[in-house]
Amino acid sequence: MNVKHVDSDILIVGGGMAGCGAAYEARFWGKDLKIVIAEKAHIDRSGAVAQGLSAINTYLGYEEGENKVEDFVNYAKGDLMGLVREDINYDVGRHVDPSVRLMEEWGLPIIKDEKTGKYVREGRWQILIHGESYKPIVAEAGRKAASEVVNRAVITHLLMDKNDPNRVAGAIGFDGRDGSLLVFKAKAVVLAAGGGTHIFRPRSVGEGWGRTWYSPWSSGSAYGLEIQAGAKMTQMEVRLIPTRFKDGYGPVGAWFLYLKAYATNRLGERYENNREKLRPLVGDYADAKPMPTCLRNHLMIEELKEGRGPIIMHTDKVLDTPEKVEAGWEDFLDMTISQAGLWASQNHDPATRGYEIMPTEPYIMGSHAVNAGAWVSGPEDVAPKEYQWGYNHMTTVTGLFAAGDAAGGAAHKFSSGSFAEGRIAGKSAVRFVRDHELHVPAFDTATVDKYGEQIFQPLENYKVGRNYITQGTVSPYYLYPSQGLKRLEKIMDEYAGGWTSYYMTNADLLNRGLELLTMLREDLEYLGAEDLHQLTRAWELVHRVWTAEAVVRHTLAREETRWPGYYYRSDFPKVDDKNWKLFLVSRRDPVSGIWTMEKVKYLPMAKPTVPVAPA
Ligand code: ADX
Repeated sequence: MNVKHVDSDILIVGGGMAGCGAAYEARFWGKDLKIVIAEKAHIDRSGAVAQGLSAINTYLGYEEGENKVEDFVNYAKGDLMGLVREDINYDVGRHVDPSVRLMEEWGLPIIKDEKTGKYVREGRWQILIHGESYKPIVAEAGRKAASEVVNRAVITHLLMDKNDPNRVAGAIGFDGRDGSLLVFKAKAVVLAAGGGTHIFRPRSVGEGWGRTWYSPWSSGSAYGLEIQAGAKMTQMEVRLIPTRFKDGYGPVGAWFLYLKAYATNRLGERYENNREKLRPLVGDYADAKPMPTCLRNHLMIEELKEGRGPIIMHTDKVLDTPEKVEAGWEDFLDMTISQAGLWASQNHDPATRGYEIMPTEPYIMGSHAVNAGAWVSGPEDVAPKEYQWGYNHMTTVTGLFAAGDAAGGAAHKFSSGSFAEGRIAGKSAVRFVRDHELHVPAFDTATVDKYGEQIFQPLENYKVGRNYITQGTVSPYYLYPSQGLKRLEKIMDEYAGGWTSYYMTNADLLNRGLELLTMLREDLEYLGAEDLHQLTRAWELVHRVWTAEAVVRHTLAREETRWPGYYYRSDFPKVDDKNWKLFLVSRRDPVSGIWTMEKVKYLPMAKPTVPVAPA
């Protein structure tokens, strides 16, 4: 076996928005440090922004007097039904605008008002971009900042320090192109490996199965790596169900906010503002302005359940100028080409006919209107002391930092906020490395050997198992990654609140789901991979199963329905602020495999002492 060793001061796992932000900022503070990015794909087109975006969803405009950072915190908190880490949301908010300005400097075309020169707003928080090349532009900054980018590096495990089992010392994986074992050693690791799609069964079936709204290559690896390393996790129960144009998964933000389109049920009724329908479930949250994303979903789901679907977005009522028609199409061509392709293939003209919208399958993420991820230490000035145990954005594993989808707590970071959060984590990692200058990371060679064997086992399983193929590709001796994935998706869909049950679950279903997940995990030892591509799929599945287990355990522990429209507990159908306005924080002990669940008090942020950075 070919083995490549890469030593560094700071290893960044994942070269998406957060990873590039981390490299950029770590380089600024650590001019002399060796900063390495390990990226599963190729950094120029990797991560959730790989295919581009048509808007930057987090730009405060505080210098222009548009929004205060506190407003952003309140917006995120309201949208998440009262549960965000205010300290982290504040920190991201005060750093996000300068990050957007940097991106503009690097060449990102941001749409401006010709008269005022100000960015054109899509909504209160969002600005419009010509963003097909958003990722390559940001990647260039990441690439230039890093000492080395190792593309095609599929990281499977974090490596812990041999003298301290709760301290990270590097990461291990394989090169998806040449099959070498990759062993990374680092004094600090910034984890930025993206959110999780294909944890739940998608609505798309057959040849469309790979199609999801969030990038299908976001395989929950951030969570899988964190959980295996014993990091504490939070908000894993909150799943994102975005409303999307049916089957192409085209986003709706530009249509609702910028083009001011609206949706109706089959009777032509605007069902979206029926706050009284929400009150019995969520009490005063029914009055929240803007209406939380999950509650908007809930009203739509009720229409569908009660037989008043399809829900139609009236694109036809708003595309009344050539400029608006162009804006509508560009929205998709910048970021969700499949929706434009679908419309073209169906001879659909959005200017003359509305189109169906639907709630999607659930996604596990920390960057959108959700906040799953690692429980991280907050910023020095605004974090309550209970939420602070060391370096900003360090997880509960020493030396392991998290950003973007990998970091839990803050919501509504999106692309720009994830980049800003990467910068925060990168700076903090430099400080950690400086403070521990004499520390020499070291891992057990036996552990490296063990992982080295485990990592390639699916290739071995295939080599042996293919001799027993009974028909086509079916062998009783192995399980293909796609077969395992379908099983995972079916379990999660039917037991943990997927779309086929209209997002409904309860303790009995969750407990059965957990049993089935345990059996699935036993079978993962028999994954079979015919090539390196399938080996990547195999390890992605392993990470997805870890993510799924955390989701089920968190959902089971939270005995209320805080986010109707994201998921429902039929046995606890209402919001219960008295008992549950708190964070659930879980940890899986890496040695015993035992999970513990803590209830952590919700604490508001402290008064900031560090001023908002100038834009
Ligand atoms: S995107 O992330 O893929 O761009 P989308 O286009 O739906 O998602 O949302 C973009 C932004 O608009 C997000 O900030 C989202 O919270 C917001 N948004 C979408 N729909 C609405 C709505 N009906 N009311 C208020 N905000 C909305």
